[in-house]
Amino acid sequence: KAGEEINITFIDKDGTKIDLQVAEGDNLLDIAQANDLEMEGELSQSRAPDIKLTSHPGACGGSCACSTCHVIVDDPDTFDKMEEPSDDENDMLDLAFGLTETSRLGCQVLMTKELDGLVVRLPTMTRNLQASDFESK
Ligand code: FES
Repeated sequence: KAGEEINITFIDKDGTKIDLQVAEGDNLLDIAQANDLEMEGELSQSRAPDIKLTSHPGACGGSCACSTCHVIVDDPDTFDKMEEPSDDENDMLDLAFGLTETSRLGCQVLMTKELDGLVVRLPTMTRNLQASDFESK
């Protein structure tokens, strides 16, 4: 029924687990921001303060155009229950640092009852590091 709460656990970059109850239809970016969870983007800002555009989590406002909201689903079975990523999301994910088999863009994942008990990790590396990595090759 509407308004029913769904359980989700975030694992932050320090390995700390944060259990939350969220509503159906919430997206992972909004949940993380509402709970002051440090996403990739914030980390990159502290490491690379001069890079402004890509350094804010949810920099693109959840329109699937920045990859700062990269999250990693901890459990492959739950990952399989999610809606398939769109082509746009896959394109952006290719740019995310530390891409895994179960990576998603947080702003594109809406919570549903099927995802009750979802566990997602917040990546520790930054996209900016990846960019410089490319340049040195
Ligand atoms: Fe930009 Fe998700 S907030 S891709």
